[in-house]
Amino acid sequence: MTEKKQPWWKTAVVYQIYPKSFQDSNGDGIGDIQGIISRLDYLRELGVDALWISPMYCSPQDDNGYDISDYRNIDPMFGTMEDMEELIRESQKRDIRIVMDLVLNHTSDEHIWFQEAKKSKDNPYHDYYVWRDGKEGELPNDMRAVFGGPAWEWVPQLGQYYFHQFSVKQPDLNWENPKVRREIYDMILWWMEKGIGGFRLDVIDQIAKEPDKKITNNGPRLHDFLRELSKETFQKGELLTVGEAWGANTQNAKLYSNPDGSEFSMVFQFEHMVMDQQEGKDKWDLVPLPFVKLKKNLAKWQTQLYGCGWNSLFWDNHDLPRIVSRWGDDGECREMSAKMLATVLHGMQGTPYIYQGEELGMTNVRFEDISQYRDIEIFNMYKERMQQGYSKSEIWESIYAKGRDNARTPMQWNGSTHGGFTEGTPWIGVNPNYRQINAKAERENPNSVYHYYRRLIQLRKEYPVFVEGKFELLLEEDEQIFAYTRTNESCEMLVCANFSGQNVNCELLSEWRQAKQLIHNVQGKLGEELKPYEAVICIREK
Ligand code: GLC
Ligand code: CA
Repeated sequence: MTEKKQPWWKTAVVYQIYPKSFQDSNGDGIGDIQGIISRLDYLRELGVDALWISPMYCSPQDDNGYDISDYRNIDPMFGTMEDMEELIRESQKRDIRIVMDLVLNHTSDEHIWFQEAKKSKDNPYHDYYVWRDGKEGELPNDMRAVFGGPAWEWVPQLGQYYFHQFSVKQPDLNWENPKVRREIYDMILWWMEKGIGGFRLDVIDQIAKEPDKKITNNGPRLHDFLRELSKETFQKGELLTVGEAWGANTQNAKLYSNPDGSEFSMVFQFEHMVMDQQEGKDKWDLVPLPFVKLKKNLAKWQTQLYGCGWNSLFWDNHDLPRIVSRWGDDGECREMSAKMLATVLHGMQGTPYIYQGEELGMTNVRFEDISQYRDIEIFNMYKERMQQGYSKSEIWESIYAKGRDNARTPMQWNGSTHGGFTEGTPWIGVNPNYRQINAKAERENPNSVYHYYRRLIQLRKEYPVFVEGKFELLLEEDEQIFAYTRTNESCEMLVCANFSGQNVNCELLSEWRQAKQLIHNVQGKLGEELKPYEAVICIREK
């Protein structure tokens, strides 16, 4: 058998930075590039191979940088292009690659293209966006924007509406226009020349929208566009590319992550992330996590992409609540459950992503006043649901459970004021639990969540079975235990975890008592039963 070299991103662990909340270096209360640079040694110690950084391009920050007004410049709030180049160099020295966030579905309405586009119908940039003729007050159709309100905005001087899937300040780009595509490719190539290691592509499954047919994601031309994009750009380098695709299923994920490299390295799919919401409703409408369904779903992705695609593995990102508060226990069992959740995730096949603070077991936040929040999505939902007559307490429970600001409070570095994030006033409040939960305390405690993550990251480098092993779900119907094996030519590995807060009997373990334990969140030997949130990975030769 000829050894084919694995692409680097198959063995990599990626760390996501939300730059506004990571580390402030100049006391203005906003995280910045110099702040990231000052923490590179921490990230190296953690052992990650790449940093996906949420957008730092020029932006009016209507949606925290996901509304870009200039793709080729850094927002002064984060620093300068020199800072960015320094970050790339300093990361390279530590064997860490930089993965940029690319928002290609829309721009800011303050982008020069849009400024020009709305001047007149025959402006050369007009066709960069999606317009429909109409009359004021008579919208082209009833499509809604993700952040609330209609998806159409009236521009009186043109007598036209423009289409926006997100906020009014995020007009959708027209991918049907080859000029738009060319501009985008040139911009990507320009960044690649600076030594970028990859890209995360924001809401990429929405670029091929067809509003007249009310199609938002998975439009008919989507994969044609993606293949062209990839050929013109990514394929000229060895990049990690990951598309964000809320509409991904295992079928189209095989296209996105085709091993021939024709589209991306992998996608972020969200089937497992929408399970605790009522079907057909919004993310705010909660239901308890259907655990068995979750396991089966993850198992489906593991088996269906095996050998013909590649998974991304994540529990958290800047849009999602903190996993330990969501599916673990952020009270008494915070550390145990954070480690358990990490174990089941990192044991699977794919590229794991760690969201800043996840490696500390950071939790959701419960602010008391709406003015303490910052997220446009929370504000719009709050207004809408108040008008629709939801009770205040119901709305607050939704915000506490699902609000995006849960993930966006500042990184907790130490026990000093504002958790060491800033010497000024942070743009969003620090979670008051920073005195107990912070990087300094975690680093000093050998049994911490942080050191557990470090060990998991190392295991992936030491044992090829983490990368290549075939997945098999065990105890499928069990309502508390999440267990599976990973198998390659030489060995078999068991990942076994108690997802519940009770002791549970686990017969399976008796077969594995002699096997080598790679990681275990309880000191000592395996017993007959699993303690609350106990998790272990064992390995044996075949
Ligand atoms: C993605 C981003 C999110 C942003 C949205 C619009 O879902 O992750 O933060 O609001 O796209 O760009
Ligand atoms: Ca700053």
